[in-house]
Amino acid sequence: MSGGLRFVAARAAALRGRVRVPGDKSVSHRAILFASLADGVSRIRGFLEGEDTLATAAVFRRLGVRIETLGEGERLVHGVGIDGLRGSDTALDCGNAGTAMRLLAGLLCAQRFDSTLIGDASLSKRPMRRVIEPLQRMGAQIESHDGLPPLLIRGGRQLHGIDYTLPVASAQVKSALLLAGLYAEGETLVREPHPTRDYTESMLRQFGVAIDYAPGHARLRGGQRLAACDVEVPADFSSAAFFLVAASIVPGSDLLLEAVGMNPRRTGLLASLREMGADIAIEREAVQGGEAVADLRVRHAPLHGIEVPIERVPDMIDEFPALFVAAAAAAGPTVVRGAAELRVKESDRLATMSTALRTLGARIDETPDGATIHGGHLLAGGHVHAHGDHRIAMSAAIAGQIASGPVTIDDCDNVATSFPGFVELATAIGFDLAARRHT
Ligand code: S3P
Repeated sequence: MSGGLRFVAARAAALRGRVRVPGDKSVSHRAILFASLADGVSRIRGFLEGEDTLATAAVFRRLGVRIETLGEGERLVHGVGIDGLRGSDTALDCGNAGTAMRLLAGLLCAQRFDSTLIGDASLSKRPMRRVIEPLQRMGAQIESHDGLPPLLIRGGRQLHGIDYTLPVASAQVKSALLLAGLYAEGETLVREPHPTRDYTESMLRQFGVAIDYAPGHARLRGGQRLAACDVEVPADFSSAAFFLVAASIVPGSDLLLEAVGMNPRRTGLLASLREMGADIAIEREAVQGGEAVADLRVRHAPLHGIEVPIERVPDMIDEFPALFVAAAAAAGPTVVRGAAELRVKESDRLATMSTALRTLGARIDETPDGATIHGGHLLAGGHVHAHGDHRIAMSAAIAGQIASGPVTIDDCDNVATSFPGFVELATAIGFDLAARRHT
């Protein structure tokens, strides 16, 4: 049961220094998954030592894959080949990780053995029909609790390819279908209403799979094998996002974020912050393991509200909690629309963020698919609840850095799912932030 870890945040002086945030969560999940399915041994560097990605690694160990930990962020994965996974006689625990459960559903429905996927209290409330339905159309047999986990996946089914248009933009659903497509007869074509992160596609290609993709579609043929390859995981833009916002709003700040992943399907917040007047320079652009990376230098600047373009929503889908804080600190209103997906993340992020910021004195009008944040009101101290959602906890911690009194944040344990060492890193660059266990 989470709820034991409490953050206490207070107004910071300037934030300064250089930081490298932990490895990308999406890339780390996929690196373990594809390396496990490959022929040969793959080395992963920069792996996220977070609870979500550790859960994925633990699942693959249960499925018979040898994964050696060579050091912090380094793994050697002894791939078992596309048909080499072994069934587990106990349920496979995805913890808090929606990515793990949805991608695994696509992979496991194509195996010879049965599997059960379970998750924690938050994951057990997240919608799985979006992946079950198209997989069933491919021939899979999956039972759920009215569209919710646990998922009971029957093995021994011959899948067939589909041509499927996603009703909602989701990289997780796209990835699940492509994984099932690897085992299906014929071709699988996934079309997206808005392009989403393409790590599955790019990594499949890195592992030697012939896949045709461009923003908005991905297509592959079943029956291909994966060849082991080394993966370098970039620093997670979504973790860097908290510091981009914090340094933008805390006066006197000047921060350098090193080698941040710059995949264009992830950097929508950067565009939004710059439109709001943020001072963020992109330096030392490079390509690392096939992914764009850059240093981001962010200095404090006065922000003003914007209307976030609807087509940008998928490119910053995980960054709205942080954006809400920037918007609360900005002059004038910020309008978010077309973001109903936020209601089915680790928490209902439109509701949890609106409630948290209102507690601190912000004015927010919530709508079914977004919110208007009326910025520019001084934030006060107060007692808020993260609802077990890592990104709400970290966003509230940032809000605390500009609040006039202490901000107490309950239920912060899950910060470790995506950003182990957050408090240590944040305090090293000047955050006033403490973590306490309470009963
Ligand atoms: C992810 C896709 C997104 C994102 C999540 C990670 C992925 O979810 O919110 O944090 O790794 O594919 P959806 O596919 O539900 O949009």
